[in-house]
Amino acid sequence: MIDRASVEAVLNAIPDPETGKGLIDAGVPKGLMVAEDRAGFVIEVPANRTAAYAPVRDAAEAALKAMPGMARVSVVLTAETAPVGRKASLSPAAVDQGRAKAPVPTDRPAHVKRVLAVASGKGGVGKSTVAVNLAAALARSGLSVGILDADVYGPSLPTMLGLSGQPAYEDGAIVPHTAHGLKAMSVGLLTKSDDAMIWRGPMASQAITQMLTQTRWGTEDAPLDVLVVDLPPGTGDVQLTLIQKTPLDGAVIVSTPQEVALADARRAHTLFQRVKTPTLGLIENMSGDVFGRGGAEAEAGRLGVDYLGDLPLDASLRQAGDAGAPLAEGEIAARFDAVAAKVAQKLGL
Ligand SMILES: Nc1ncnc2c1ncn2[C@@H]1O[C@H](COP(=O)(O)OP(=O)(O)OP(=O)(O)O)[C@@H](O)[C@H]1O
Ligand SMILES: [Mg+2]
Repeated sequence: MIDRASVEAVLNAIPDPETGKGLIDAGVPKGLMVAEDRAGFVIEVPANRTAAYAPVRDAAEAALKAMPGMARVSVVLTAETAPVGRKASLSPAAVDQGRAKAPVPTDRPAHVKRVLAVASGKGGVGKSTVAVNLAAALARSGLSVGILDADVYGPSLPTMLGLSGQPAYEDGAIVPHTAHGLKAMSVGLLTKSDDAMIWRGPMASQAITQMLTQTRWGTEDAPLDVLVVDLPPGTGDVQLTLIQKTPLDGAVIVSTPQEVALADARRAHTLFQRVKTPTLGLIENMSGDVFGRGGAEAEAGRLGVDYLGDLPLDASLRQAGDAGAPLAEGEIAARFDAVAAKVAQKLGL
């Protein structure tokens, strides 16, 4: 377990080039996030100071990675950006200011018929892989589909769909990227860095609400049929805040067959029950010899939710994700087609 105090101590041992003080004392890290085995923060500096702070970012990243038990570190160096337009202010600083305002309304995104969450109780179970390939399968069935990467801990859509570059703004709306027939937005595209962005809870939900409601997902003439949202893994406060503020029509929960992952899937289902979002079903990922098989189906029975099918542990899925494209054909793509058909039917599409 990584704790905040030891992370801060490690960071404070690194001097801030501007003031000579330790990074923490100098107030350099913004949005410091410390979780069980991960930590991350943002360094935001004027554009002409990014070169001076690049070694600081590297030193901080290396020092945090060297901490025992640390699995993932993300230090993002961004240049302070002037707001591009009235609604285009998605920089962390701007998002942070928004915190003082009234609670964010749970607006539905305009011209989006259904919002579907892909969730998991536990990290690393293949939630993003499922979200991307399920979205692609829904698109293959003729629906118009968007995908929103709301995984503030580790946005993976930029890699899995080969997205890069900050989104454009037009008339105060964010123009989503288009990739593999999907409209796509990721919390990972909101910074200038290639690194993942890590947001504090309130910042995260504000940013995601903005991405949901201010992205031009569809138009009056061409509405989006379904927006797939890749939620951050886990069932903590961040997830609760996000799903409370996100108008979800249904959720699918991804689990591996192992007992530990299934217990987490149960917690995810409970979380959705709390916010009255129907769990459309459970998907078993990485099914097969290594992790066993059938656990998710049995668990779905115990929870009284539908079982949507299993996806084998298969190198082609990982390779497709690494290469930035969903699977387009073959046996596993066909399995996603079957899952997509059930999901579309449950969403009334
Ligand atoms: N069925 C599968 N067969 C083989 N590899 C898989 C499968 N599903 C996912 N993977 C691989 O496992 C890794 C984790 O998957 P993914 O990033 O989709 O998980 P996640 O639940 O979104 O993780 P995180 O909690 O970090 O967001 C990736 O390298 C992915 O390519
Ligand atoms: Mg993921």
